[in-house]
Amino acid sequence: MSILTKKFNDGNEIPIVGYGIGTANSRQECSAQIVSALNTGYRYIDTAEMYKNCPSVKDALAEWGGKREDVFILTKWGLADLSGNNDPRETLLKLLEQMGLDYVDLYLIHTPLVINGRTQSECWKMMEDLKKEGLALSIGVSNYREEDFLAFETTWEIPPAVNQLEYHPYNAHPANMIRMKTICDKHEILIMAYGSLAPLTRATGPPLENVIEGMAKETGMTTGQVLLKWSEQYSGGISVTTSTKVQRQKEQLEAFTIWPPLSDDQVDRIAQVGKERYFRHFGKSIWDKAAP
Ligand SMILES: NC(=O)c1ccc[n+]([C@@H]2O[C@H](COP(=O)([O-])OP(=O)(O)OC[C@H]3O[C@@H](n4cnc5c(N)ncnc54)[C@H](OP(=O)(O)O)[C@@H]3O)[C@@H](O)[C@H]2O)c1
Repeated sequence: MSILTKKFNDGNEIPIVGYGIGTANSRQECSAQIVSALNTGYRYIDTAEMYKNCPSVKDALAEWGGKREDVFILTKWGLADLSGNNDPRETLLKLLEQMGLDYVDLYLIHTPLVINGRTQSECWKMMEDLKKEGLALSIGVSNYREEDFLAFETTWEIPPAVNQLEYHPYNAHPANMIRMKTICDKHEILIMAYGSLAPLTRATGPPLENVIEGMAKETGMTTGQVLLKWSEQYSGGISVTTSTKVQRQKEQLEAFTIWPPLSDDQVDRIAQVGKERYFRHFGKSIWDKAAP
């Protein structure tokens, strides 16, 4: 079973679906879940300093026994309360040691808040140096709005490869998200969609509930698979999801390895109905301050 990949603006590639050790696994020892994900067929593991569980990656890779270079490993700089190291290099060195790695495939600034006392341009220069050093093969950002990109767009030497952010039918439609997508498209910055199951988990009920259930019957997929595929197709990017359950890990992966894409009409129907509701779970303090 092979997983399709998408190409970054620096030429490197990423599997189109990743297994995250945040949210459900956050602050938990989770090597068994990572081993299970790798055995299920995932080849991209999404980690972060904030999740405080990077040592589980080292244990999981040792137990799994496959080659490190066959797994795409992403990590992120920064702690929510800003108590962490204010230097992305020192943080990366710490996380590499915890994970037993020489390099990560992708290193992100977790949110524009963690730059804490430095300018976006200063922080990004430090990120560029990590790529040049080979400690991070690619570099990117997470939870960035249009205005965050504008703050360093004129000074970057290497544009971010990705913007990882909450992305689902209930938050993709506001103007600030459209502007974020426009600036990402301009620089070929790939969207990495997380929280895509919101209509099934954190924002249940109408108006999408019946539509998603109907589309699951129509396609033969599960409702979760429909939502994961929608985010990947509508954003043109990739999907980051998670589950503590082996059966759901398999189901989520199979959305991208077995099932064909949703039709344009199906994608559009979900997008149109999604516009009837607004919901955001992550990064409210940043996005509530975004220009509308
Ligand atoms: N950059 C950032 O700021 C940021 C923020 C958040 C997340 N992330 C990354 O994205 C990953 C995924 O985040 P997420 O938790 O928001 O992803 P999600 O894919 O929207 O939700 C996953 C959660 O939904 C539950 N779930 C899965 N299928 C379900 C279904 N059919 N019905 C009901 N519940 C279902 C799972 O619970 P079970 O365990 O019970 O299956 C799991 O807790 C994280 O692990 C992290 O790596 C990044």
